[in-house]
Amino acid sequence: MCGIIGYIGNNDAYPILIKGLKLLEYRGYDSAGIALINNENLLSVYKTKGKVSELETFISQKNISGTTGIGHTRWATHGEPSQANAHPHYSSTETLALIHNGIIENYSAIKEKLKAKGYSFQSTTDTEVLILLIEHIKISNNLDLLNAVQLALQEVIGTYAIAILDKERPDRIIAARKSSPLVIGIGNQEFFLGSDATPIIEYTDKVVYLEDEEIAVIQKNEPLKIVTINNEPSNPAIKKIELDISQLEKGNYPHFMLKEIFEQPESLFNCIRGRINADNNHIALSAVIDHKEKLLAARRFIIVACGTSWHAGLIGKQLIESFCRIPVEVEYASEFRYRNPVIDEKDVIIAISQSGETADTLAAVELAKTRGAFIYGICNAVGSSIPRATDTGSYTHVGPEIGVASTKAFTGQVTVLALLALTLSKEKKIIENSIFLETIKELYNIPEKMKEILEQNEKIAALSQIFTYAHNFIYLGRGYNFPVALEGALKLKEISYIHAEGYPAAEMKHGPIALIDNEMPVVVIATNNSLYDKVLSNIQEIKARKGKIIALVTKGDKIISQIADFYIELPATLENLDPLITAIPLQLLAYHIAVCKGMDVDQPRNLAKSVTVE
Ligand code: M6R
Repeated sequence: MCGIIGYIGNNDAYPILIKGLKLLEYRGYDSAGIALINNENLLSVYKTKGKVSELETFISQKNISGTTGIGHTRWATHGEPSQANAHPHYSSTETLALIHNGIIENYSAIKEKLKAKGYSFQSTTDTEVLILLIEHIKISNNLDLLNAVQLALQEVIGTYAIAILDKERPDRIIAARKSSPLVIGIGNQEFFLGSDATPIIEYTDKVVYLEDEEIAVIQKNEPLKIVTINNEPSNPAIKKIELDISQLEKGNYPHFMLKEIFEQPESLFNCIRGRINADNNHIALSAVIDHKEKLLAARRFIIVACGTSWHAGLIGKQLIESFCRIPVEVEYASEFRYRNPVIDEKDVIIAISQSGETADTLAAVELAKTRGAFIYGICNAVGSSIPRATDTGSYTHVGPEIGVASTKAFTGQVTVLALLALTLSKEKKIIENSIFLETIKELYNIPEKMKEILEQNEKIAALSQIFTYAHNFIYLGRGYNFPVALEGALKLKEISYIHAEGYPAAEMKHGPIALIDNEMPVVVIATNNSLYDKVLSNIQEIKARKGKIIALVTKGDKIISQIADFYIELPATLENLDPLITAIPLQLLAYHIAVCKGMDVDQPRNLAKSVTVE
């Protein structure tokens, strides 16, 4: 979703801002803009609808300079994508300029109040309302910008990460956050600002994550000052970020998504490394060990997540229930937070999120906290909001995921859930040692098996060309592979815009089978496991209605591979680890269909990488 970049120091701000905006493109956006204060203290705003490259072309015709600036990529919420609605927004006197991530929920009431005082609006955004409110408070009370921002933020309801330039104070940026992340990078006599650390790490690894309702006064040649919106001082906690800049580049791959699919053997290894001992006979997921009393005493686990992370949660449910015999519920975070769930201190919440910033998942965590539940986070983005809001947790350690369609984060989440279930089951002393050891050993084998599948990339690319005609797809799976069917369908729809649905295979005859005809591609996950014969019957039912079957089978399969119209052979693994294998060809299939259709794979329309609004 929207992205923020800021710079103040002794260097030219524009190259840093434009590069930062490009690095933030992965978050998803539809317009972009920057504001600069030049050497004559003129405050200028430049903005365009569309890509950052269009903004760059627009600005290339201008004569710009300045060492203080802010930049923004906007993902439309209030008002269509347009130049007028793009950020930064000027105040009415054009002495202030503001960028904003989040939503001001009471913007309408504030707008009416400002209109009554004679203010007019250039855009339909909630953001412009905020900058005019700040300006109004500043002028009518003759206040410094900091105090005006404090008063304005006390009045607004909603979420925000903001940065403001003030023409009268070219040496300063004021920034604030509530429920929308903001990171300040501390360089050598310079500061950077980002909605995440991505655009900052090239310059510094020292960062401060702003907390809710904190305001940062970022001033040239002065130490960073942080106060709350109620003017209480706060000490900036400086953290070190460990991120390799090469992880943010595509290298030789045409898209981040393909790079991230191919990274999975390594990212999975990174996820288990250090958690399984050298002799392959012990797992130490430290968060589980450190909190085992709490976890073992749990009446039930409730997994909250959205999208792909929710699919990983469905697999986690099966892993935890079968290994640990603890009941698990899996909830869409967006539903959980609004339905007054029955939850108390005997419950353990597992919040799963790649970005660690998903607004609904974060809100579900906050709700569960108020009811006294113990919260365990499974996140990828280090230092993001969810890990900071939870009692404990485990990182997936799969490295930054840039492509909007989640791939390596999914396999990382499933792996952490498997490690969690195994560790807990061992602590509970209910898992047979032979099963424990066999599962650990197989986890170590998975990266090699993933490589085997990736070798079939060309074959899957060729297969994909056959299906670019399709307007619909059905994905079927059972047991551990039912959530993978959902995930395969999600991957296809988000990047190729082909309508796709995932079902448990046996559910077909309860309705969806009516959709089957000789034009309907049906992807069936039919690997060799305890439900093989059942899936075979389901395939026969589709075949009888002339559906086109694309089957994922285990290497050496002699039955389903003969019936299917097309098949992809996969290495055998344990049934409960099958999703780590079966997800990969579905990611590749979706990727290649989208490429064949000429789609913008890494930044599909309407989607954002970090969904920071509800
Ligand atoms: O960062 P999160 O894991 O919390 O994100 C949740 C969903 O927004 C995300 O998984 C989304 O569904 C992806 N685009 C799927 O590829």
